[in-house]
Amino acid sequence: MRIVRVPLGQRSYDIQIGTGLLARLGGACARLGLGRRCAIIADRNVARHFGSAAHKALAKAGFAAELITIPTGETAKSLHTVEACYNQLAAQRLERKSFIVALGGGVTGDLAGFVAATYLRGLPFVQVPTTLLAQVDSSVGGKVGVNLAAGKNLVGAFHQPRLVLCDLHTLASLPLREYRAGLAEVIKYGIICDAGLFRLLERDLPRLLRREPRSLAAVVARCCEIKADVVRQDETESGLRAILNFGHTIGHALEAISRYGKYLHGEAIAIGQVAAAKLSAQVLGLPGADVARIERLFERAGLPTRVTLNAPQRRQLLAAMRLDKKVSQGEVKFVLARRIGAVEFGHPVPAALLAGTINH
Ligand SMILES: NC(=O)c1ccc[n+]([C@@H]2O[C@H](COP(=O)([O-])OP(=O)(O)OC[C@H]3O[C@@H](n4cnc5c(N)ncnc54)[C@H](O)[C@@H]3O)[C@@H](O)[C@H]2O)c1
Ligand SMILES: [Zn+2]
Repeated sequence: MRIVRVPLGQRSYDIQIGTGLLARLGGACARLGLGRRCAIIADRNVARHFGSAAHKALAKAGFAAELITIPTGETAKSLHTVEACYNQLAAQRLERKSFIVALGGGVTGDLAGFVAATYLRGLPFVQVPTTLLAQVDSSVGGKVGVNLAAGKNLVGAFHQPRLVLCDLHTLASLPLREYRAGLAEVIKYGIICDAGLFRLLERDLPRLLRREPRSLAAVVARCCEIKADVVRQDETESGLRAILNFGHTIGHALEAISRYGKYLHGEAIAIGQVAAAKLSAQVLGLPGADVARIERLFERAGLPTRVTLNAPQRRQLLAAMRLDKKVSQGEVKFVLARRIGAVEFGHPVPAALLAGTINH
């Protein structure tokens, strides 16, 4: 097992990465000194795959666990589902020392984390991420929340988990498209922080696509280290943490204009990162050869790298970027790369340059 520490003073926690860890969930929770009662929140798919294993592991360590099932998909990340969870927690009589286990992908982690942050003014919670995206990204760092009709993640909190347990075996049942979408975040870490990781991905991509545990363990651990280090330096996103949004300004806008239906998040940010690399070439002199390497790696991972938009769609996309909550004083600011492994945040990009880059 690999352990990555997220050092945040009293709110520090470990990320455990390995195979077969789900069976040890109970023991790991026992070591945290939590109350005896807990609720596992999982979506229907994940509950079917891993609900009973999680329940058994907790029961074996003496915990009284109840499984709360939520619908699948991004639309479940709503205040409506949050309320349904609150009602079940109340029926179960969860107390201040009780805890919540978020078992599933980023949708479940964000929602269950938000429930934990707010029920009884805050309960401890444990993340058990079961998608690649959740293991390398959403389960770490304490950003929790839900969507409103007006936009994604508009309601939320910072609430750090007490433990993140990444069982690589759970990834075996993940649909290929979801797995590839997770690789988009993995590649992102190489571009923003670690040229060595980027080279490793170029070399090891076939092994990763086969989900070989050894290769996965090394890559997931490295991504978690990078995220932990960024979060340690800037827990509440007053600056540096913005680098994690490389490719996300365009990606989020693309998700929004396609009404969250056409692209998975990872697919949208693959397109967004390639576009951001092209902008980086123009604004910061990212070498053309690096832009080509970036595009090629996303292609090899089976991810889309371009969109074709007509003029009205292009206008919609630019408007959606201006609505992004990362925009300040109306100016769209970008995370751009100087080279692979080194990015800078807060670069304003002229609208004309942006419009010209998106359709190429
Ligand atoms: N909090 C953060 O810092 C942060 C960061 C990035 C993304 N996010 C959020 O994460 C969400 C996306 O997460 P996601 O991509 O994990 O989506 P998801 O949670 O919807 O999971 C994707 C699909 O895979 C299924 N699934 C999950 N694990 C499985 C497994 N092991 N086997 C088979 N099926 C499985 C789920 O039921 C679902 O249908 C978005 O809402 C996004 O906003 C949050
Ligand atoms: Zn993302």
